[in-house]
Amino acid sequence: MKILKPYVILSAAMTIDGKIASRTGDPELSDEKDWKDVHKLRTTVDAIMVGKGTILKDNPKLHIKYFKHKGYYRVVVDSTLTIPLDSNVITYQPQIYPTIIGTTESVTMDRIREFESKNVKIIKSGTGKRVDLLNLLLILSNMGIKSILLEGGGNLNWSFIKQDLIDEMRITIAPWIIGGRDATSLVEGEGFNKMEQGRKFKLLKVYKRDNYVNLIYIRRN
Ligand SMILES: NC(=O)c1ccc[n+]([C@@H]2O[C@H](COP(=O)([O-])OP(=O)(O)OC[C@H]3O[C@@H](n4cnc5c(N)ncnc54)[C@H](OP(=O)(O)O)[C@@H]3O)[C@@H](O)[C@H]2O)c1
Repeated sequence: MKILKPYVILSAAMTIDGKIASRTGDPELSDEKDWKDVHKLRTTVDAIMVGKGTILKDNPKLHIKYFKHKGYYRVVVDSTLTIPLDSNVITYQPQIYPTIIGTTESVTMDRIREFESKNVKIIKSGTGKRVDLLNLLLILSNMGIKSILLEGGGNLNWSFIKQDLIDEMRITIAPWIIGGRDATSLVEGEGFNKMEQGRKFKLLKVYKRDNYVNLIYIRRN
Protein backbone atom coordinates (compact mmCIF):
# COMPACT_ATOMS: atom_id res chain seq x y z
CA MET A 1 0.00 0.00 0.00
CA LYS A 2 1.29 3.48 -0.89
CA ILE A 3 2.08 5.61 2.19
CA LEU A 4 0.58 9.09 2.01
CA LYS A 5 2.61 11.98 3.36
CA PRO A 6 1.07 13.89 6.29
CA TYR A 7 -1.13 16.90 5.54
CA VAL A 8 1.17 19.93 5.88
CA ILE A 9 -0.10 23.35 7.00
CA LEU A 10 2.40 26.20 6.81
CA SER A 11 1.69 28.67 9.61
CA ALA A 12 3.39 32.06 9.94
CA ALA A 13 2.97 35.65 10.97
CA MET A 14 4.60 38.19 8.68
CA THR A 15 4.85 41.94 8.25
CA ILE A 16 3.14 43.72 5.35
CA ASP A 17 6.46 43.43 3.49
CA GLY A 18 6.66 39.66 4.02
CA LYS A 19 9.23 39.48 6.81
CA ILE A 20 8.90 36.89 9.58
CA ALA A 21 11.58 38.48 11.79
CA SER A 22 13.52 41.76 11.83
CA ARG A 23 17.10 41.97 10.56
CA THR A 24 18.35 41.45 14.12
CA GLY A 25 16.11 38.39 14.48
CA ASP A 26 13.31 39.95 16.52
CA PRO A 27 10.33 37.61 15.86
CA GLU A 28 7.68 39.44 17.93
CA LEU A 29 4.99 40.11 15.32
CA SER A 30 2.02 38.42 16.93
CA ASP A 31 -0.28 39.95 19.52
CA GLU A 32 -1.89 37.78 22.21
CA LYS A 33 -4.96 37.00 20.09
CA ASP A 34 -2.77 35.79 17.24
CA TRP A 35 -0.80 33.57 19.61
CA LYS A 36 -4.07 32.13 20.90
CA ASP A 37 -5.11 31.33 17.31
CA VAL A 38 -1.74 29.65 16.67
CA HIS A 39 -2.01 27.63 19.87
CA LYS A 40 -5.57 26.61 18.94
CA LEU A 41 -4.30 25.46 15.55
CA ARG A 42 -1.57 23.46 17.29
CA THR A 43 -4.27 21.50 19.16
CA THR A 44 -5.52 20.14 15.84
CA VAL A 45 -2.31 18.54 14.52
CA ASP A 46 -0.14 15.53 15.29
CA ALA A 47 3.18 17.40 15.07
CA ILE A 48 4.80 20.84 14.83
CA MET A 49 7.88 21.11 12.62
CA VAL A 50 10.59 23.81 12.55
CA GLY A 51 14.05 24.23 11.06
CA LYS A 52 17.27 24.37 13.00
CA GLY A 53 17.60 28.13 12.33
CA THR A 54 14.43 28.80 14.30
CA ILE A 55 15.70 26.72 17.22
CA LEU A 56 19.06 28.54 17.23
CA LYS A 57 17.55 32.02 16.91
CA ASP A 58 14.35 31.80 18.99
CA ASN A 59 14.76 28.71 21.20
CA PRO A 60 10.96 28.11 21.13
CA LYS A 61 9.18 25.64 23.43
CA LEU A 62 6.57 24.79 20.78
CA HIS A 63 4.01 24.08 23.48
CA ILE A 64 0.39 25.06 24.06
CA LYS A 65 -0.31 27.72 26.64
CA TYR A 66 -3.97 28.57 26.30
CA PHE A 67 -5.85 25.32 25.77
CA LYS A 68 -6.22 21.86 27.23
CA HIS A 69 -4.79 19.24 24.91
CA LYS A 70 -3.12 15.88 24.84
CA GLY A 71 0.19 16.97 23.30
CA TYR A 72 1.91 16.25 19.99
CA TYR A 73 5.34 15.64 18.54
CA ARG A 74 7.86 18.42 18.01
CA VAL A 75 9.95 17.76 14.92
CA VAL A 76 13.19 19.64 14.23
CA VAL A 77 15.10 19.42 10.95
CA ASP A 78 18.86 19.54 11.64
CA SER A 79 21.23 17.99 9.05
CA THR A 80 24.26 17.88 11.34
CA LEU A 81 22.62 17.33 14.73
CA THR A 82 24.10 20.48 16.19
CA ILE A 83 21.24 22.16 18.05
CA PRO A 84 22.20 22.55 21.73
CA LEU A 85 21.15 19.68 23.98
CA ASP A 86 19.65 22.19 26.39
CA SER A 87 17.31 23.70 23.76
CA ASN A 88 13.77 24.21 25.04
CA VAL A 89 12.39 21.72 22.49
CA ILE A 90 14.45 19.07 24.24
CA THR A 91 14.14 20.07 27.89
CA TYR A 92 10.62 21.54 28.11
CA GLN A 93 7.85 19.02 28.94
CA PRO A 94 9.12 16.13 26.78
CA GLN A 95 6.49 13.82 28.29
CA ILE A 96 3.74 15.91 26.62
CA TYR A 97 5.66 16.98 23.53
CA PRO A 98 8.13 14.25 22.55
CA THR A 99 10.83 15.55 20.23
CA ILE A 100 12.03 14.01 16.99
CA ILE A 101 15.01 15.32 15.05
CA GLY A 102 15.23 14.60 11.33
CA THR A 103 18.88 14.48 10.30
CA THR A 104 21.16 12.99 7.63
CA GLU A 105 23.29 9.84 7.35
CA SER A 106 26.40 11.97 8.01
CA VAL A 107 25.89 12.20 11.78
CA THR A 108 27.96 10.07 14.17
CA MET A 109 26.57 7.38 16.46
CA ASP A 110 28.15 9.21 19.43
CA ARG A 111 26.16 12.34 18.66
CA ILE A 112 22.96 10.33 18.15
CA ARG A 113 23.45 8.66 21.54
CA GLU A 114 23.81 12.07 23.22
CA PHE A 115 20.37 13.06 21.93
CA GLU A 116 18.83 9.68 22.63
CA SER A 117 20.01 9.95 26.24
CA LYS A 118 17.70 13.01 26.44
CA ASN A 119 14.82 10.92 25.05
CA VAL A 120 14.99 12.55 21.61
CA LYS A 121 14.17 10.25 18.71
CA ILE A 122 16.59 10.60 15.81
CA ILE A 123 15.50 9.81 12.26
CA LYS A 124 18.17 9.66 9.58
CA SER A 125 16.76 10.83 6.28
CA GLY A 126 18.99 11.36 3.29
CA THR A 127 22.63 11.08 2.28
CA GLY A 128 22.93 14.64 0.94
CA LYS A 129 23.90 17.85 2.72
CA ARG A 130 20.37 18.46 3.91
CA VAL A 131 17.53 16.38 5.27
CA ASP A 132 15.46 14.57 2.64
CA LEU A 133 12.09 16.06 3.58
CA LEU A 134 9.75 13.83 1.59
CA ASN A 135 11.41 10.72 2.97
CA LEU A 136 11.18 12.18 6.50
CA LEU A 137 7.48 12.96 6.00
CA LEU A 138 6.81 9.38 4.88
CA ILE A 139 8.61 7.98 7.94
CA LEU A 140 6.58 10.31 10.19
CA SER A 141 3.38 9.21 8.45
CA ASN A 142 4.33 5.59 9.10
CA MET A 143 4.62 6.49 12.80
CA GLY A 144 1.01 7.70 12.77
CA ILE A 145 1.68 11.41 12.23
CA LYS A 146 -0.99 12.43 9.73
CA SER A 147 -0.93 16.23 10.07
CA ILE A 148 1.94 18.64 10.57
CA LEU A 149 2.02 22.35 11.32
CA LEU A 150 5.11 23.75 9.63
CA GLU A 151 6.20 26.81 11.63
CA GLY A 152 9.17 27.91 9.55
CA GLY A 153 11.56 29.52 9.29
CA GLY A 154 12.14 30.96 5.84
CA ASN A 155 14.69 28.43 4.61
CA LEU A 156 12.71 25.38 5.63
CA ASN A 157 9.57 26.97 4.14
CA TRP A 158 11.41 27.32 0.82
CA SER A 159 12.40 23.65 0.75
CA PHE A 160 8.78 22.66 1.36
CA ILE A 161 7.54 25.05 -1.35
CA LYS A 162 10.22 23.95 -3.82
CA GLN A 163 9.28 20.30 -3.36
CA ASP A 164 5.57 21.12 -3.47
CA LEU A 165 4.88 19.64 -0.04
CA ILE A 166 2.50 22.29 1.35
CA ASP A 167 -1.24 21.52 1.43
CA GLU A 168 -2.49 24.61 3.25
CA MET A 169 -1.19 27.96 4.50
CA ARG A 170 -2.38 30.06 7.43
CA ILE A 171 -0.76 33.45 7.22
CA THR A 172 -1.25 36.40 9.55
CA ILE A 173 -0.28 39.82 8.27
CA ALA A 174 0.85 42.09 11.09
CA PRO A 175 0.26 45.81 10.47
CA TRP A 176 3.76 47.13 10.00
CA ILE A 177 6.71 47.24 7.66
CA ILE A 178 10.17 46.36 8.88
CA GLY A 179 12.36 46.21 5.73
CA GLY A 180 15.95 44.96 5.68
CA ARG A 181 17.61 42.69 3.14
CA ASP A 182 18.87 40.53 6.00
CA ALA A 183 15.47 40.22 7.65
CA THR A 184 14.13 36.67 7.12
CA SER A 185 11.24 36.50 4.65
CA LEU A 186 8.33 34.07 4.74
CA VAL A 187 10.11 32.07 2.05
CA GLU A 188 13.87 32.30 1.56
CA GLY A 189 16.05 30.07 -0.68
CA GLU A 190 17.05 30.73 -4.29
CA GLY A 191 13.46 31.10 -5.53
CA PHE A 192 11.97 30.20 -8.92
CA ASN A 193 13.04 31.99 -12.10
CA LYS A 194 9.59 32.61 -13.53
CA MET A 195 6.18 33.39 -12.02
CA GLU A 196 4.71 30.44 -13.90
CA GLN A 197 7.04 28.11 -11.96
CA GLY A 198 5.79 29.43 -8.62
CA ARG A 199 3.50 27.31 -6.45
CA LYS A 200 -0.11 28.35 -6.75
CA PHE A 201 -2.65 28.40 -3.96
CA LYS A 202 -6.36 29.02 -3.76
CA LEU A 203 -7.53 31.71 -1.34
CA LEU A 204 -10.12 30.01 0.87
CA LYS A 205 -10.76 32.60 3.56
CA VAL A 206 -9.81 36.15 4.51
CA TYR A 207 -10.74 37.78 7.76
CA LYS A 208 -9.61 40.84 9.55
CA ARG A 209 -9.26 41.46 13.24
CA ASP A 210 -8.22 44.82 14.65
CA ASN A 211 -5.35 45.74 12.40
CA TYR A 212 -4.37 42.16 11.52
CA VAL A 213 -5.38 40.14 8.46
CA ASN A 214 -5.64 36.35 8.45
CA LEU A 215 -5.42 34.43 5.22
CA ILE A 216 -6.14 30.75 4.59
CA TYR A 217 -4.93 29.25 1.34
CA ILE A 218 -5.13 25.69 0.10
CA ARG A 219 -3.05 23.97 -2.52
CA ARG A 220 -4.29 24.33 -6.10
CA ASN A 221 -3.83 21.09 -8.02
N1 LIG B 1 7.00 34.93 12.20
C1 LIG B 1 6.91 33.63 12.16
O1 LIG B 1 5.80 33.06 12.02
C2 LIG B 1 8.14 32.79 12.27
C3 LIG B 1 8.02 31.39 12.40
C4 LIG B 1 9.20 30.63 12.47
C5 LIG B 1 10.44 31.24 12.38
N2 LIG B 1 10.52 32.59 12.24
C6 LIG B 1 11.83 33.24 12.12
O2 LIG B 1 12.57 32.61 11.09
C7 LIG B 1 13.98 32.76 11.40
C8 LIG B 1 14.66 31.43 11.15
O3 LIG B 1 14.55 31.08 9.80
P1 LIG B 1 15.80 30.49 9.00
O4 LIG B 1 15.44 30.53 7.58
O5 LIG B 1 17.04 31.19 9.46
O6 LIG B 1 15.92 29.00 9.56
P2 LIG B 1 14.97 27.72 9.47
O7 LIG B 1 14.21 27.70 8.20
O8 LIG B 1 14.22 27.59 10.74
O9 LIG B 1 16.05 26.54 9.47
C9 LIG B 1 16.85 26.33 8.31
C10 LIG B 1 17.89 25.30 8.61
O10 LIG B 1 17.32 24.00 8.72
C11 LIG B 1 18.27 23.04 8.32
N3 LIG B 1 17.75 22.14 7.30
C12 LIG B 1 17.99 20.79 7.27
N4 LIG B 1 17.44 20.24 6.20
C13 LIG B 1 16.83 21.24 5.52
C14 LIG B 1 16.12 21.27 4.31
N5 LIG B 1 15.87 20.16 3.60
N6 LIG B 1 15.70 22.45 3.86
C15 LIG B 1 15.89 23.60 4.56
N7 LIG B 1 16.57 23.63 5.73
C16 LIG B 1 17.04 22.45 6.20
C17 LIG B 1 19.46 23.81 7.70
O11 LIG B 1 20.53 23.85 8.62
P3 LIG B 1 21.58 22.60 8.61
O12 LIG B 1 21.93 22.35 7.17
O13 LIG B 1 22.71 23.04 9.44
O14 LIG B 1 20.81 21.46 9.17
C18 LIG B 1 18.90 25.20 7.50
O15 LIG B 1 19.88 26.20 7.60
C19 LIG B 1 14.07 33.22 12.84
O16 LIG B 1 14.47 34.57 12.87
C20 LIG B 1 12.65 33.08 13.36
O17 LIG B 1 12.33 34.07 14.30
C21 LIG B 1 9.41 33.36 12.20
